[in-house]
Amino acid sequence: MLADRLKTLAPSSTLAVQAKAKELKRQGVDVISFGAGEPDFDTPERIKEAAIQAMRHGHTKYTEVGGVPELRAAVCAKLKRDNGLAYEPTDVLVSCGAKHTLFNLAVAMLNPGDEVLVPCPFWVSYPEQARLVGAVPVGVPTQEATGFDLDPEQLRAAITPRTKVIVLNSPNNPTGAVFSPASLAAVARLAVDANLFVVSDECYEALTFEGRHVSIAGLGPEIKARTLTINTCSKAYAMTGWRIGYAAGPRELIRAMTDVQSQVTSNPSSVAQWAAIEALVGPQDEVAKMAGEFDRRRRLIVRGLNELPGVSCIMPKGAFYVFPNVSQLLGRTWRSADGPATIRGSVASTSAPTITCACRTPPASR
Ligand SMILES: Cc1ncc(COP(=O)(O)O)c(C=O)c1O
Repeated sequence: MLADRLKTLAPSSTLAVQAKAKELKRQGVDVISFGAGEPDFDTPERIKEAAIQAMRHGHTKYTEVGGVPELRAAVCAKLKRDNGLAYEPTDVLVSCGAKHTLFNLAVAMLNPGDEVLVPCPFWVSYPEQARLVGAVPVGVPTQEATGFDLDPEQLRAAITPRTKVIVLNSPNNPTGAVFSPASLAAVARLAVDANLFVVSDECYEALTFEGRHVSIAGLGPEIKARTLTINTCSKAYAMTGWRIGYAAGPRELIRAMTDVQSQVTSNPSSVAQWAAIEALVGPQDEVAKMAGEFDRRRRLIVRGLNELPGVSCIMPKGAFYVFPNVSQLLGRTWRSADGPATIRGSVASTSAPTITCACRTPPASR
């Protein structure tokens, strides 16, 4: 019954963990979920109010596929204000979350067999979306010793005649790395020399605690002409459920992605679009407040992790993730409430620093 492409599709593991946590909570279990990347703050009141006003003013119909002009103008203003990037509203597409933006891109740009370089560890959707359209994701290792910074030489070594795209994600999910300006500049040169396209997923920009956020498209006109900059309202404004992501880049590509979207979802929710305008152009002080709280928590959790025997964890510079190293625990057994349990796993060879780890308890006690 199902298409061949489904044979290799891995469902989103983060969403699966989140669903499991929600189910346990429903059963009354006290669970702290570290699954999906979702702020626990509520959407700021001013943004909710903008949505209510939008409904009252009748903004409840289909809109332009790529977003109302006011929102695309707000995105341009944001990119100028925060990133020093000059775009026109016709260079912008608004979608149902950045995940949707990325899928529009995959459909609009990738042919079967095209290779996509993804520094790893990576966010789970990049390789799966590439596979869904027949492209080939290629993991390129980063190292714990450099804080999981981009490694331009490893990227260069992974290029083949089929390579088309490099995916960058800084601040990074899941390592919390903020890529250094020097490595971004080197990758920009590499992309221009090797005629590659760059996707810069900057969804965690607002959560940069150390170093500074650099948009690779801002490093010069040549790299800007071959970069799609992606961002979202989900993380900075605690708006995960509203589903508003956006992208700016070469006009021809934006037009193609908009055409794809026109045949799949049409516009993102009209009401959410008006809320997003308020999010992007209104006062930004809640963003700094939320970022301050995430900064406090990152220190707390890294300290706690480093106090655990056999666990070490470097301090993430951005986003709200930690990436602890548990390699010393692999193969150890311990006695849990359910009986003896063994930590299984390996340091995955294709994604050098990634450790997959599973706990096995005897079947009877599962
Ligand atoms: C790196 C990264 N990019 C994109 C997204 C998607 O964000 P959204 O679709 O909510 O805009 C996420 C969500 O977790 C993410 O971690």
